[in-house]
Amino acid sequence: MKEKFEFNTIIPRRGSGSYKWDTPADPETIPLWVADMDFRTAPAIIDALRRRVGHGIFGYTYVGDDYYEAVCRWFETRHGWRIDPSTIIYTSGVVPAVSAIIKAITVPGNKVITQTPAYNCFYSSIRNNDCLLSPDPLVRNSADGTYGIDFDHLQQLAADPDAKTLILCNPHNPSGRCWTREELIRVGRICLDNGVFVIADEIHCELTFNNHRYTPFASISPEFAENCATCISPSKAFNIAGLQIANIVAVNPEIRRRIDKAININEVCDVNPFGVTATIAAYNESVGWLEALKEYLWQNYLYLKDRLAEAAPEVLLTPLEATYLAWLDISRTGLTSEQLCETLLHQEKLMLNPGTMYGPGGEGFIRINLACPRTVLATAVDRLLRHI
Ligand SMILES: Cc1ncc(COP(=O)(O)O)c(C=O)c1O
Repeated sequence: MKEKFEFNTIIPRRGSGSYKWDTPADPETIPLWVADMDFRTAPAIIDALRRRVGHGIFGYTYVGDDYYEAVCRWFETRHGWRIDPSTIIYTSGVVPAVSAIIKAITVPGNKVITQTPAYNCFYSSIRNNDCLLSPDPLVRNSADGTYGIDFDHLQQLAADPDAKTLILCNPHNPSGRCWTREELIRVGRICLDNGVFVIADEIHCELTFNNHRYTPFASISPEFAENCATCISPSKAFNIAGLQIANIVAVNPEIRRRIDKAININEVCDVNPFGVTATIAAYNESVGWLEALKEYLWQNYLYLKDRLAEAAPEVLLTPLEATYLAWLDISRTGLTSEQLCETLLHQEKLMLNPGTMYGPGGEGFIRINLACPRTVLATAVDRLLRHI
């Protein structure tokens, strides 16, 4: 029998030290910006954390075999990716992971390719390592709003001897694309042929919808696995980002040694006991919750889609294959992304992300976080529709 979980309940988050909810000054603001969810995490995770809190001692953390077993079992059974536990490096987040891998692979002045628009922290990680962005604009079909990779352009960028690495966001934030195996094979081949190392950020991997299947980049072939480091975390899917835990999987021993060194140079080699406890409970005991969550998120997407189709058909909603982040083309409203977001914040008390946050290709778009109770989404959509 399918388990029942409650996603309709509104749980007040203001005053809980929430970046998403406590940043806006006005208490009436609905914040659908930062990518975390307004749902309680899975019951098994809460129970495991309660037990851990009950112990009452929170000293330095030892990460035991049960942690590695949980991670490896999950990826093998759910995604067909067999991970050797000795190739895992844990750290305090996917952004620290990506940054450390850039440090391990590049020297200052090197170029880092990424598909744009891109998750904003990629830009800061590239800058913080004194590297240069080599943008690979996604191509967009303006009729249906779908995005794809321009492989010829990627080939040109990869051929540049200064281009040492590609950050591959798989699935992709903010376009919502879940790259197909064929697309990933083409990306991987171009990178291998041109000596470009792949940093696969797979933080959104659990949140794929319908027939869109996540393919772990490293699982495609041993050659690809050698030429990449993958960043994974239960944080997005199980709403535990504040517990700060992530894993890097790096098969190549020399690369792994360099990443490990960079993690130490950046002093992000320690994790906290709650992150470890929550990860084990997520991967071992929370699959039913995740399935129910995905169904709820998908219904939220359909809700937004229907409302837009009815009241603002000129606003094109990008088809959502993965993530809980809706990407809307608002260019036909005549407003810039910034103007619309400013108006929504000040006149409607609705906080969204302007597409410009995500760099080239983001102008004319806004991003809406769909991970909230449907009644909250409904009010947010009412507010949005008064301006588009
Ligand atoms: C693609 C991507 N990578 C990384 C992160 C953040 O990772 P972390 O909080 O583990 O540093 C996000 C958060 O939205 C994201 O979308």
